[in-house]
Amino acid sequence: MAEADLLDVPALDKAAGEEFLQEAFGVILEEAVRRGTDVAEKVCDWKEPEDLRHLLDLELRGHGEPQPQVLQRCRDIIRYSVKTCHPRFFNQLFSGLDYHALAGRMITETLNTSQYTYEIAPVFVLMEEVVLQKLRELVGWGSGDGIFCPGGSISNMYAMNVARYHRFPDCKRRGLWALPRLAVFTSKECHYSIQKGAAFLGIGTDNVYLVGADERGKMIPAELEKQISQAQVEGAVPFFVSVTCGTTVLGAFDPLVAVADVCERHGLWFHVDAAWGGSVLLSQKHRHLLAGIERANSVAWNPHKMLTTGLQCSAFLLRNTSGLLHRCHSAGATYLFQPDKFYNVAWDTGDKTVQCGRKVDCLKLWLLWKAVGTEGLEKRVDRAFACTRYLVEEIKKREGFQLVMEPEFINLCFWFVPPSLRGKQAQADYWERLGKVAPAIKERMMKAGSMLVGYQPHGSKANFFRQIVTSPLVTRQDLDFFLDEIERLGRDL
Ligand SMILES: Cc1ncc(COP(=O)(O)O)c(C=O)c1O
Repeated sequence: MAEADLLDVPALDKAAGEEFLQEAFGVILEEAVRRGTDVAEKVCDWKEPEDLRHLLDLELRGHGEPQPQVLQRCRDIIRYSVKTCHPRFFNQLFSGLDYHALAGRMITETLNTSQYTYEIAPVFVLMEEVVLQKLRELVGWGSGDGIFCPGGSISNMYAMNVARYHRFPDCKRRGLWALPRLAVFTSKECHYSIQKGAAFLGIGTDNVYLVGADERGKMIPAELEKQISQAQVEGAVPFFVSVTCGTTVLGAFDPLVAVADVCERHGLWFHVDAAWGGSVLLSQKHRHLLAGIERANSVAWNPHKMLTTGLQCSAFLLRNTSGLLHRCHSAGATYLFQPDKFYNVAWDTGDKTVQCGRKVDCLKLWLLWKAVGTEGLEKRVDRAFACTRYLVEEIKKREGFQLVMEPEFINLCFWFVPPSLRGKQAQADYWERLGKVAPAIKERMMKAGSMLVGYQPHGSKANFFRQIVTSPLVTRQDLDFFLDEIERLGRDL
């Protein structure tokens, strides 16, 4: 066919494409959704990387493959992927499946737009504002600003960048030349994204002052005062304090009111990393854990963790109403943000971000919220707490299980002590030997594919399990299974 004739027909066969999609949706529904959440099925089908590479036949070739083969590839991809929606996946701070949120994700993927202008994302520009406003209300702010970011790490970075710009507006133009040596404060239990952010923004990890925490992992405000003085003595200029609501490992909530007082006294930006614990604000019963959050200058909150919206859904919320976010990040590209558009260009919100194209992250949360209401979200948060409480009580009844501490949130941290180590705590090598138990059990569970749970050493503490339940699909049977399985996999160690 001549080159010009090729243009008379589309380059895709629409009918065949739709038929493929129909079948692919069938595969997704059957393999990823139904089997992926079936407790009779494995959480993972472990393969060594070399074997998996071979099984998947990943190489990309000159010729395309017939549709049945492509569909088989879809099945294989799902088969060998870890089922994070499975009721026995307790490995991450995100897990589980919400059917409405998933529909939202599918619509987002299908419409494939960018969140930057009203022109190409009218629905989502309006929707994002409504969702952010709702989250801000839960924080306790009647007004403010914000943006959905690609993850909590980035939301924390935004906080640092906006705080710096607020104090030193010249730095946007003059860069680091406009700045003294700046100091950031956070607890030693903070998420590592604070260090990454400091490195990325040119603040430097040496200028992140790690404030001491108590035995429950909460920042000690008096230590914060000391670190601020220390930084000043060292010639640095304190500007930013990040506290954590729901620390990654222990699930601790920093004392917000006391830290807010310190920030106020010293004129420091008060950021709350509530990426993990922010959703607790939905619970009347538990929201006291975040008392004082309304005094923050900014908040990072990841609904993709506790609310099971699916990755990614992370809100960066700002109390400031002066357009700071826009001033800090805007570049005013005239090919996107033309000032002479026929509609109100205040709705072209995309220049508040450091991105150009930005994925729609509000729809999955909005659709879920519409489907279950604020009451439904609250029930999920309360249910997650109830799951953890149930496990705590069970652990106390079972021989060989030892809590690292009573959880205040849903991070259940515990050791499993196999029979060979019970009563041997006085032995010099006890903790070294106990530290080998969790990795050994984890290897066995991955190879069995029966469940997944994380472990880590922490400070001076030897490896312990950190179990998290956020999935609304998890039942008491799954929780009992979890403890039984640890016992089964670890009793001969
Ligand atoms: C307290 C806290 N902050 C920030 C993050 C980073 O979030 P993300 O993984 O979305 O970048 C995490 C992740 O687990 C976290 O636990």
